Amino acid sequence: MVARTVPVEAFDLIVFGGTGDLARRKLLPALYHRFAAGQTPGDALIIGAARRRMDGAGYRDFAREALTEFVPESHLKPDLVEGFIAMLDYVPVDAATEAGWAALGRKLKGREARPRAFYLSVAPQFFGQICERIGRGRLVTPETRLVVEKPLGRDLASARALNAQLASHFDEHQIYRIDHYLGKETVQNLMALRFANALFEPLWNANHIDHVQITAAESVGVGERGGYYDQNGAMRDMVQNHLMQLLCLSAMEPPSRFDPDAVRDEKLKVLKALRPIEGAAIDEEIVRGQYEAGPDGPAYREEAGDPESRTECFIALKIGVENWRWAGTPFYLRTGKRLKARHTEIAIRFKDAPHSIFGDSAGALKGNALVITLQPNEGIELRLNIKDPGPGGMRIVSAPLDMSFGSGAGDAFRMPDAYERLLMDVIRGDQTLFMRGDEVEAAWAWIDPIIAGCEEGRAPPAPYAQRAEGPMESHILLHKDGRRWREIA
Ligand code: NDP
Ligand code: BG6
Repeated sequence: MVARTVPVEAFDLIVFGGTGDLARRKLLPALYHRFAAGQTPGDALIIGAARRRMDGAGYRDFAREALTEFVPESHLKPDLVEGFIAMLDYVPVDAATEAGWAALGRKLKGREARPRAFYLSVAPQFFGQICERIGRGRLVTPETRLVVEKPLGRDLASARALNAQLASHFDEHQIYRIDHYLGKETVQNLMALRFANALFEPLWNANHIDHVQITAAESVGVGERGGYYDQNGAMRDMVQNHLMQLLCLSAMEPPSRFDPDAVRDEKLKVLKALRPIEGAAIDEEIVRGQYEAGPDGPAYREEAGDPESRTECFIALKIGVENWRWAGTPFYLRTGKRLKARHTEIAIRFKDAPHSIFGDSAGALKGNALVITLQPNEGIELRLNIKDPGPGGMRIVSAPLDMSFGSGAGDAFRMPDAYERLLMDVIRGDQTLFMRGDEVEAAWAWIDPIIAGCEEGRAPPAPYAQRAEGPMESHILLHKDGRRWREIA
C-alpha cells in the first residue's frame, strides 16, 4: 500500500495548552509527521499558547525534545525536524486573565485569509473564557475553526451547558469536537467496508447477524491518572465517547453521502434508538469491575487513592438498538484496564447456517464472523467455514480470510496516528470525523440514567485479576444468552 497525501493550504494553528501532555505526546508529533509527509506547507504557523513564560526559541526547544521523545528515531530526519520547528512560535497567554491576548492578536494580524484553527488543549473549565476572549479580540475570521477535546461534559446537563457556551461564540460548522477513535485508520475502513462494497450491506441486519461484540481492552492501569480517573470511570472515559461512536458506525443506516451532516444524522438516529437501560435491567445488562493487585501493579482502588472506591475501570454492557434493522440483535460492549492485552475490535457474528448437510462427523458449523481490528494489528478478518485440508473425509473447520494493514510493510511503514488525520481534516474544513453537539448530548441522555442507576445503592464493581478478561460476571452476561466473548488476545 502506498500512502498518498493531499497537501493542505497554509494555515495558522494556535494551540492553547501548547506545553501540556497532549501537545507534547500527540499534537506536535502528528503535525511533524504530516509536514514530513509533505502534506503541510513550510509556511504554516503553529503557535503554542500557555501561561509559562517562554519565547519562540524556548518553544522550539520544547518541541524538539517532544519530537525526540515521541517520534520513532527512524522518522526523525534532521532537515525535516528543523523545517518543522521553524514553523513554531509561542505566546504566553493566560486563559483566565487579559495577559498575553493583545500579543496573540498582533501575531495573527494580517493573516485573516488563511484557515485559522484554535485548538483548546486545556482543561474544559477554560473553554468559555478562551472563546470569550477570542471573540472579544476579534480573532474569529470566516475561516476560523475551534477544536475541543474530551471531556465534553460529564452528564447531559454539563454537555448542554458546554454546547451553549461554544455556540455563543462559534457556529456549529466551525466547531470540531474530537473523538480520536474516529481518526483511527480502521474506523474509517469500517465505513469503506460497509458502504463501498455491495457484499455486506444486504446481510447487515438482524436477519443475518446474531450479535455484535465491541471490545476495547487495555493492558495499562490507571496509573498516575488514578485520582482524575476515579471521578469518571470507564463509562464516562470510554463508553460515552469512543465505544458509542464505534457502535454508531457499525449500526447506522447508509448515509446518502460521505459528508459531515449526512454521516452525523445517521449516527444520531442510532443513539436515539438505543433501548434505555434502567431499573432491574441495570443488573441484567451491565457488569462493572475493578482490577485487583497483580503482576503489573497495585489494585485499582490503591491507584485511585480511595480504598472504598465504587468507580468502575471495567464495564460490559448488553445494548439493544430498537429499529427494524437491529431488533433482536444485541450489541455487547466491553472495555477495561489491566486486561490480558491491548486489543480493540468490532466483531460481527453472523447467524449459524440453518442446516448442516455434512452430518455430525463434520463437526459443528460455526456462524461466520467479520472482525475489524482497530489496534494493535489493524486489519479485517472474515472467518469462514472450510473443509479441513487433506484426507480424512469432510471435516469443517473455521479459517480466517485475513487482510492485515500494518504488518509486512517493514520498519519504514508507520500507521498514521489518529491525530494526524483529524488535524488535517480541521485545516481542510471537513467535519465528517468530528462529533456534532446533538450527538454528544444524545449519548449523554442515554448514559446518564445508567450511571445514576449504577450509583443507586448497588453492589460495588466486581473484582478481577490482572492480565485476565475482566470479572466472571462479564462472561456470564453472554453465557445467559448462549453466547461467549471472543478471546482477548
Ligand atoms: P496538561 O495538564 O498536561 O496541560 C494543560 C495545559 O494547559 C498546559 O499547557 C498548561 O500550561 C495550560 N494551561 C493551564 N492553565 C492555563 C491557563 N489559565 N491559561 C492558559 N493555559 C493554561 O493537560 P493535557 O495536555 O493532558 O490535556 C489538555 C486537555 O486535553 C484536557 O482537557 C484533557 O482532558 C484533554 N485530553 C488530553 C489527552 C491526553 O492524552 N493528554 C487525551 C484526550 C483529551 P501552563 O500551566 O503553562 O499554563
Ligand atoms: C482516552 C481515555 O480517551 O482513550 C484513556 O481517556 C484511554 O483512558 C485512551 O486509555 C485509549 O486510547 P487508545 O487510542 O490508546 O485506544
